[in-house]
Amino acid sequence: MSNYATYPSLKNRVVYLTGGADGIGGNLVRLLAAQGAKVAFIDINADLGKQNANWCKDQGYAHTPLFLEGDIRDIARLEESIDQAADHFGPIQVLVNNAANDDRHKFGEITPEYWDERFAVNLRHQYFAIQKAVPYMRQCDGGSVINIGSSSWMMKEDFFPAYATAKSAIQGLTRTLARTLGTDNIRVNSVVPGWVVTDRQLDKWWSEDGEKETLNNQCLKQRVYPEQFNQMVLFLAADDGCACTAQSYIVDAGRGGL
Ligand SMILES: NC(=O)c1ccc[n+]([C@@H]2O[C@H](COP(=O)([O-])OP(=O)(O)OC[C@H]3O[C@@H](n4cnc5c(N)ncnc54)[C@H](O)[C@@H]3O)[C@@H](O)[C@H]2O)c1
Repeated sequence: MSNYATYPSLKNRVVYLTGGADGIGGNLVRLLAAQGAKVAFIDINADLGKQNANWCKDQGYAHTPLFLEGDIRDIARLEESIDQAADHFGPIQVLVNNAANDDRHKFGEITPEYWDERFAVNLRHQYFAIQKAVPYMRQCDGGSVINIGSSSWMMKEDFFPAYATAKSAIQGLTRTLARTLGTDNIRVNSVVPGWVVTDRQLDKWWSEDGEKETLNNQCLKQRVYPEQFNQMVLFLAADDGCACTAQSYIVDAGRGGL
């Protein structure tokens, strides 16, 4: 990350994020820890969660990230983990709602139960994490909420309708809560990935044709990696994003979006 910015305001900043074991969130934990932030994260994957926190510890960063095992579909556990993060590091100043699951599903085969489960893993937790974190942010006279969206619905991708619908709602959630929380100096934004190359993407969804099509659509003819995507998240977490709220920032190498 040597060519990227260092943000003085991220030093000692208390950040809670969901899905910090792997992928974009895993990388974000490492970037934030390198900036000197106090990072706590929940994840369902205990092995990778511990591994990520330990990796940061081995780097000798000022603060070792706190890994909290849990499932974000379980709102009681999600809320408890936010309290645990605050007990450990102090009041939450930045919340990154990142965890999600992009499993494929077909239009005609979705049951009401599966629909609800897709919304629980891709949308519901974002609202309740904000509701829980806001009192801590008020104690700090402000904060930053960053909701990770998806450009899939903008691109009219049709292989996961419940996921795409849930992800589209993140834009509405962001705008309405930006109004509600603006008077508390709490900023609410979303950052929207196009195709970001993670291990899961390569393992589960990659194909030569798919990558060719993506690069064809992108203005920049190169892969987007988590570290590149997360530069926008760091900016919004830092004081540098202090005048930005109610926005969705697309980081997709010019793939499409709205
Ligand atoms: N990678 C992409 O191309 C892409 C594209 C569009 C949107 N996104 C969005 O970016 C965010 C991160 O995606 P990613 O590609 O890094 O995903 P990923 O699958 O690589 O990582 C997600 C992390 O969340 C965790 N997680 C999943 N379900 C959980 C649960 N129920 N409880 C707790 N933790 C859980 C996983 O264990 C993992 O550590 C998501 O919001 C996703 O929708 C990613």
